[in-house]
Amino acid sequence: MINHSKRLAPLSTGIFNQLLQYKQEQLNLGVDIIDLSIGSPDLKPPTFVTNTLSTSALNTDLYGYAINSTLEFKEAVTHYYNRKFNVTLKEEEVLQLMGSQDGLAHLALAYLDPGDIVIVPDPGYPIYSASVHVAGGKLYHMPLIEEADYLPSLEQIPEEVCKKAKMLIISYPGNPIPAVASEDFFKSLIEFGKKHEILIIHDFAYCELLYDGRRPLSILSIPESRDIAIEFNSLSKSFNIAGSRIGYLVGNANLLSPLAILKSHFDYGVFLPIQIAATKALNEGDQFLEDQRKTYEKRRNTFVESLSNEGWQVKIPAGGMFVWAKIPDGYTSFEFTLKAIENGVVVTPGDAFGPHGEGYIRIALVESDEQLRKAAKRLSSIYSEKP
Ligand SMILES: Cc1ncc(COP(=O)(O)O)c(C=O)c1O
Repeated sequence: MINHSKRLAPLSTGIFNQLLQYKQEQLNLGVDIIDLSIGSPDLKPPTFVTNTLSTSALNTDLYGYAINSTLEFKEAVTHYYNRKFNVTLKEEEVLQLMGSQDGLAHLALAYLDPGDIVIVPDPGYPIYSASVHVAGGKLYHMPLIEEADYLPSLEQIPEEVCKKAKMLIISYPGNPIPAVASEDFFKSLIEFGKKHEILIIHDFAYCELLYDGRRPLSILSIPESRDIAIEFNSLSKSFNIAGSRIGYLVGNANLLSPLAILKSHFDYGVFLPIQIAATKALNEGDQFLEDQRKTYEKRRNTFVESLSNEGWQVKIPAGGMFVWAKIPDGYTSFEFTLKAIENGVVVTPGDAFGPHGEGYIRIALVESDEQLRKAAKRLSSIYSEKP
């Protein structure tokens, strides 16, 4: 028997496999299932993007190793950042990625020595912790709680942790927490990073999903952020191209450089037709993005209103593609999730994202208004029969 490396030991897949199996059992029993567990967009990419991709894919000159980003892609990112977030970027301040997951997974390897601490949100997107485990780093979890609007308390991070910490990761609007950060919070974060020499990493994968007239806030729009902060972004959720993967990291070229070096050894770049289609999406996608934002906003309203009508107390998400809902007393998140699957809705238990997620479930808005209304009714029938 050849054992896997010890590095993999903390990477549990248990909970998701269990849920998948339970879903299958219920399907076999004939239960009609609405799956709102995974944040994979159900909406389609824009036709002008798929047309560009298919035309480029017929060009046999584009099948070599891409190695690097095209200049056109980098320019498209700089124009997009300027238009959307009022942030000026130079071409060397853009590092192309095979999705932001690629970058997040490898950043820890590029930056950490064994024992270095990374400060991560709890609850938080799982790759933040997994990448640190694999790189031999240590984690410090910052609780994100409803009473504090899901902003971490930086003052409560012990001095000892600040001394040994090399990176801090945050995401607004995030996954699973669909909250937004204020400019003041980002300012204090930059100050904190500079004071303790901790690299601040903002994951901005949901930058296009802000509701009720809110404007997305890039951390790079904060003064002096270029000294200490970098930002991940992705086209997966914005343009529904999670499968034809592409993302990027932006910020000071010196801060991007460790990951660029690692990637120059680990991969050969993104398939050129995808780069060409992504360039077109960034340059010409504004109307599509606005229409899509309205679709998600309507879904959010429909779903939260339906749940509230049935007695749930759900905080209306300010952005993102998830609803983070408190479950009734008497259930753990996992128990509630099993009950939800029996009732025909797959959700994700909050504790899958860290201990502070206990008592909550995450619901992805990846179905039509009608299906979401149906799902809210099904979830509410559990709510009313509290144990
Ligand atoms: C917060 C967050 N960051 C990053 C990612 C990864 O996205 P990509 O498809 O760009 O790798 C996801 C995907 O669900 C996400 O939710």
